[in-house]
Amino acid sequence: MSAPERIPPRGVTATELLTRGELTVRGRIREASNVVLLCEAALDGETVSCVYKPVAGERPLWDFPDGDLARREVAAYEVARATGWDLVPPTVLRDGPYGEGMCQLWIDPPESGTDGEQPPELLALLDTEEPGPGWKAVGFAEVGEGRTALLVHADDLRLRRLAVLDAVINNADRKGGHLLPAPGGRLYGIDHGVTFHTENKLRTLLWGWAGEPLTGELTGVLTALHKDLAGGPLAARLGELLTGAEVAATGRRVEALLAAGRHPEPGGDWPAIPWPPV
Ligand SMILES: Nc1ncnc2c1ncn2[C@@H]1O[C@H](COP(=O)(O)OP(=O)(O)O)[C@@H](O)[C@H]1O
Ligand SMILES: [Mg+2]
Repeated sequence: MSAPERIPPRGVTATELLTRGELTVRGRIREASNVVLLCEAALDGETVSCVYKPVAGERPLWDFPDGDLARREVAAYEVARATGWDLVPPTVLRDGPYGEGMCQLWIDPPESGTDGEQPPELLALLDTEEPGPGWKAVGFAEVGEGRTALLVHADDLRLRRLAVLDAVINNADRKGGHLLPAPGGRLYGIDHGVTFHTENKLRTLLWGWAGEPLTGELTGVLTALHKDLAGGPLAARLGELLTGAEVAATGRRVEALLAAGRHPEPGGDWPAIPWPPV
């Protein structure tokens, strides 16, 4: 499969295929905590691979209401789309063989081998006190036998945008396994079920820019989001997926980011780093 903007090759868009295509379950992803089914969606002779997470297969959580993780995943995609950053694969809400659920375009890893080029590493554990060039420090982590190592992530514009997106959607679970490198130098974030809580739940690996001033590009995108959330199409779309309080809290998070002019810093009593981090 090729990159999302080239899928499908003719006619229908990926979103239409995901929304209206006939779903056939091909397998189940065992290591997932919720029911995650690998499917094919077929429409007008076009086929794409996708994941389908039925609401009926969502594991209940203590701090989120039951039965709406799928809607949060779609809401995260809608906000990502509004930023113009291609950071979340197309995600829709639809009916499927196990009832209503989210359906998301499957992201294949980048082709490897042809020119021997590997995508750059996004995360690392270093035996040093300082991150060094190309890396941003997250914090020191216990690595067993009483040893600690410095957890770092790449100083990468895509990750920086994702860190801002996570602050907007209040992502409570941005771990390494939810970062998917894709063909064409792309990077996607997935697994956005625990987002949009009205209380601060930001739990992420991407703290490397914490407290640093937002760049002009980031501020510009946040300013546009703010407008879109104040009665624009995004507010209307999110209103179909989230509670009024959750949409209002999203607007307030954008306002707070713009007022501070800086990346957020971890704080409070919520564990700020998901564990395990990958
Ligand atoms: N859109 C996708 N493209 C490629 N792989 C995916 C996609 N969505 C999920 N996966 C794979 O399925 C695994 C489980 O999905 P995830 O969204 O983490 O489920 P859960 O809600 O159970 O945590 C991921 O770790 C990833 O390997
Ligand atoms: Mg997961």
